[in-house]
Amino acid sequence: MDNSKLLGLALYPLPVYLFPTSFGFMAELANILTEVKNGVLYLTLNREEKLNALNFQTLEELKMVFEEIIDSREIKAVIITGAGEKAFVAGADISEIAELNEVNARKFAENGQEIFAMIENCHKPVIAVTNGFALGGGCELAMACHMRIASANAKFGQPEVNLGIIPGYGGTQRLTILIGKGKANELMMTGDMIGAEEAKSLGLVNYVLPTKEEAIAKAEEVIGKIMSKAPLAIGMIVDCVNAVFLPEDGYQTEANCFARCVKSGDYKEGTSAFLEKRKPVFKGE
Ligand code: COA
Repeated sequence: MDNSKLLGLALYPLPVYLFPTSFGFMAELANILTEVKNGVLYLTLNREEKLNALNFQTLEELKMVFEEIIDSREIKAVIITGAGEKAFVAGADISEIAELNEVNARKFAENGQEIFAMIENCHKPVIAVTNGFALGGGCELAMACHMRIASANAKFGQPEVNLGIIPGYGGTQRLTILIGKGKANELMMTGDMIGAEEAKSLGLVNYVLPTKEEAIAKAEEVIGKIMSKAPLAIGMIVDCVNAVFLPEDGYQTEANCFARCVKSGDYKEGTSAFLEKRKPVFKGE
């Protein structure tokens, strides 16, 4: 396979993306729907006829959208979901996986890992609302988000072993971290799917709601609470929690992030408001 295609480069009508203003360019995305409401970006993976499978183009679009989210003053939080009722994301696109070779397979994995790390490291809360199948790269995408809220019909799994491969977008690491070694080994080695309630009992999912609409409403409720807190502190929590999984000393990261919080106006506002018995008004600075 041509490596430029692997990186999505050959697939892009570049002029569309040259001068993005506000979120205008997002309207031009082929496989992702975006809508901003009350500071929340609703990001919908939109290849319903392929169960929202992640092809190269969708991954590149995800990357572009997250680059925009990170810089945006308007977007304070993100909810990711899949179009339709049947699937969140049924995996990386198998028609593209079938074309990999030994050389570009490493790039394939590294590219997905890099994009999912952008999501995991985003300083704004990112919640996956998993409706229907979250398999392979779909489960990996959900795990890269800060939380997962499932509808009752959600199904999770890492079925790559059925294709003679393993998870390559961080799944071997994040699944093990989230549910522990024994269960992660079982799910990845058998390729079995689990339902929403089992996923919740394993710690893979935060909440299960009967329908997708109710799951989105729950995500909005959680995000509403987070948005009333100091944004800088939220970003520092992201960095510290992620530091647990890095070779660096997480306690040192925590001390550094704690000190950064204390330099902020929001720290002064939060502590003053408590002492003055009023609600704090955080400005994110
Ligand atoms: N990549 C590419 N296409 C996919 C896909 C994927 N990961 N998952 C589903 N699709 C496509 C199917 O090929 C089918 O396309 P078609 O209508 O053009 O033939 C369409 O989505 C609907 O899927 P279908 O298999 O007909 O639905 P189903 O209800 O019978 O089964 C699944 C649903 C999820 C069990 C089944 O699609 C599946 O096993 N998908 C692959 C899951 C996987 O292995 N993911 C990890 C990839 S690394």
